[in-house]
Amino acid sequence: MLEVKDLFVSYGQSEALHGISFEANKNETVAIMGRNGMGKTTLFKSLMGVLPTKSGEISVAGSSVVKDESYKRVAKGIAYVPQGRMIFPTLTVEENIQTGLENSKSKKIPDEIYSLFPVLFDMRARKGGNLSGGQQQQLAIARALVTNPKVLLLDEPTEGIQPSIIKDIAKALNEIRKLREITIVVSEQVLSFAMDVADRLFVIEGGRLVHETTRADTDAERIKAYLSV
Ligand SMILES: Nc1ncnc2c1ncn2[C@@H]1O[C@H](COP(=O)(O)OP(=O)(O)OP(=O)(O)O)[C@@H](O)[C@H]1O
Ligand SMILES: [Mg+2]
Repeated sequence: MLEVKDLFVSYGQSEALHGISFEANKNETVAIMGRNGMGKTTLFKSLMGVLPTKSGEISVAGSSVVKDESYKRVAKGIAYVPQGRMIFPTLTVEENIQTGLENSKSKKIPDEIYSLFPVLFDMRARKGGNLSGGQQQQLAIARALVTNPKVLLLDEPTEGIQPSIIKDIAKALNEIRKLREITIVVSEQVLSFAMDVADRLFVIEGGRLVHETTRADTDAERIKAYLSV
């Protein structure tokens, strides 16, 4: 569903991604594990078209998106939950979710979204800025999901979030996969969360994928070694 081939990305003269290649299949969740500064956000921003690609190929459902601007990539089925969530603090929860429905005929939020995230239903009239960090993360995921993406990208969804809400997020991601045909790519530093949601795990280090494993074959000690400095 998502195919990334030989992706190179630079900030000015400084190359940050040095040839990233991976695929994520329909109904599959893939985790990209890596320490701070290893290139996770750079990868996601380039997949989303927020950062230009120096060379390489990105395709969604067989269609190349690498030359498309972000809004076109959204139309082709990529949704992005950025690191730090970036919800609209002065809009209500309901209005925040509706921003994801901008290009759809109905402004009605599907029941499915509120059943995945009951807390958002309870707080639908509250301002986004008054939610906890974990609730804001759920809101950001809900907003991405209403675009009905084929590929959902989540950049460090557990960052700064308490364990009980991390579990809720894992549960919601696993639930979404049962309800829809969706490919999820999540970047993470928390191995237990990745093991809860991902079928395959990659490790990114210095802008390169240096390790790949299925969940069943995961050598947790090895991945923890990559994640610790
Ligand atoms: N705007 C920028 N200009 C120049 N270099 C940048 C920029 N943003 C990131 N970098 C560099 O690119 C590399 C990868 O950074 P990136 O933000 O992708 O890491 P990350 O894995 O997302 O880290 P974190 O876990 O802290 O979010 C780092 O060396 C970083 O310093
Ligand atoms: Mg990052």
